[in-house]
Amino acid sequence: MSDGLTVVPLPTPMQRAIAAAETLDSLATVVQELVENALDAGASRIHLQWHPSAWHLEVTDNGEGIRQADLSQVALPYTSSKLPSSGEFADITTLGFRGQALYSLAQMAQLTICSRHREADTGWRVRYDAQGQVHSLRPLGMAVGTRVIAEQIFQDWPQRQQETNPKQIQRRLQEIALCFPQVAWHLLKDGKPWCHWPAVASLGDRLLQLVPQLHPQDLRQINDAQIELVLVSPDRHHRPRPDWLG
Ligand SMILES: Nc1ncnc2c1ncn2[C@@H]1O[C@H](COP(=O)(O)OP(=O)(O)O)[C@@H](O)[C@H]1O
Ligand SMILES: [Mg+2]
Repeated sequence: MSDGLTVVPLPTPMQRAIAAAETLDSLATVVQELVENALDAGASRIHLQWHPSAWHLEVTDNGEGIRQADLSQVALPYTSSKLPSSGEFADITTLGFRGQALYSLAQMAQLTICSRHREADTGWRVRYDAQGQVHSLRPLGMAVGTRVIAEQIFQDWPQRQQETNPKQIQRRLQEIALCFPQVAWHLLKDGKPWCHWPAVASLGDRLLQLVPQLHPQDLRQINDAQIELVLVSPDRHHRPRPDWLG
């Protein structure tokens, strides 16, 4: 600074805050990251509770859970269990791989994780500080799986809170649910049932669940080992009059 520089590196806490805000740019992204973690853990049931006025979100899954030792790592920057053994981006088969979502969430919310690994006799409840370090840890009786609790989300980021729209969150969840028909989804908003999409056999069945205007006879499903294609006709969903003409 003494040599008159006006372009200087931003202070480290500010760099971190900017990176966290880029990773989690909206509540819909927070929801997506938590749900993708559940799917990567092999969950067949995902339960989401959202209390909009309290900025409180809980995502519970019946996936493989997190080992106690790993619970101290998961919310640190760039930590992931999803690195392929080849170390190549091209070999990534999981939805997550950056190892930044929980770290960013620890900065933008109060983060608690309850998890019991499938090989463990007990679960653990861990609270994290804003750096993603373990703040407290205690044993917890629970079924195998993981619950991530984020409270006071975006409390220090009022701009992010203004941008929240329930339809946008529902839409994001529908898009993901469409890709995972074999997963059961249970969503509560303010403690009341919001959406319930039981597990179904195929993409076509999921479409019928998500778009009530569709009829089974509107769908043509083509499956082979590589691809599942669903053709929908006619476009009744977008027609102003329900005249059934394609
Ligand atoms: N619901 C979950 N079930 C099991 N493990 C999880 C879950 N959520 C997070 N984890 C673990 O925490 C790690 C860090 O998560 P995250 O920050 O989202 O990074 P990424 O998904 O990119 O690896 C994951 O790699 C995974 O090992
Ligand atoms: Mg992730």
